Amino acid sequence: MARKIIIDTDPGQDDAVAILLALASPELEVLGITCVAGNVPLPLTSKNARVVCELAGRPDTPVFAGCERPLERPLVTAEHVHGKTGLDGITLPEPGMPLQDTHAVDFLIETLRSLPPGSVTLCPLGPLTNIATALTRAPDIAGKIAEIVLMGGAYFEVGNVTPAAEFNIHVDPQAAEIVFRSGIPLVVMPLDVTHKALTTRARVEAFRNLGTPVGHAVASWTDFFERFDMAKYGSEGAPLHDPCVIAYLLKPDLFAGRHINVEIETVSELTMGMTVADWWRVSGRAPNAMFMGDLDADGFYALLTERIARL
Ligand code: RIB
Ligand code: CA
Repeated sequence: MARKIIIDTDPGQDDAVAILLALASPELEVLGITCVAGNVPLPLTSKNARVVCELAGRPDTPVFAGCERPLERPLVTAEHVHGKTGLDGITLPEPGMPLQDTHAVDFLIETLRSLPPGSVTLCPLGPLTNIATALTRAPDIAGKIAEIVLMGGAYFEVGNVTPAAEFNIHVDPQAAEIVFRSGIPLVVMPLDVTHKALTTRARVEAFRNLGTPVGHAVASWTDFFERFDMAKYGSEGAPLHDPCVIAYLLKPDLFAGRHINVEIETVSELTMGMTVADWWRVSGRAPNAMFMGDLDADGFYALLTERIARL
């Protein structure tokens, strides 16, 4: 029986690759894709999610528009990384498939209420606004969610959008606090692990050498997406963040981490959105998250390339 998941996302090239990985993997049943404002505004993230589904040959995938701004803070976007469209690097056809009429938050609530407890895993790849709004509006769903596996946060790697905070958490720290304090089993893919998943030339050429439209798109997105981080970090490639979430569902042994306490900074402007990860267990606070710190990068890219080849 395939594992039921809902992907919550702000596509973004790396989100797009994560969605492709999920749709290419028979172990997973994507019940729906819920879109949130993040890398680019909501109209673009909800368009981009449909572009990716059609690229994957899966126009049947229900795509929902969700929250267009964070709970309290103004929206911060990242066009400087992802380009004006959010999927710069290749021009793909306008989506033919429609958005669902239901709001993403209502879809999350209705789906979780309608299925047996523990049936659904949530996979947030962007700011946590949709998830937090659903939990606040329907607290009963917290006990229905099997696990939340999310990309966000940082500890040893420190922040990418401020010196202290990673983008997804920084955009909506109040939402992140609700999720991290929910008591729901959490698996966190922070920059500590995604910065070890670099898009080296050989790895990007492996996508291009698939000789398929999907392989070409992934290589083109990566060529575009990596320029910013390579210039900033002087690294051999850029971190391919969001596919780490889906890869964990498929091959958890690719990852290693610790079950620790992680709290979110929501008061200080200086450290707003920082994930205060008690990696050395000095706080005495109860562990609430499996916080990943390492991955087998070659194994990750082998899985990703093999699955992308199926589309
Ligand atoms: O900080 C990296 C995260 O921010 C990724 O999810 C990327 O897509 C952006 O949303
Ligand atoms: Ca993202």
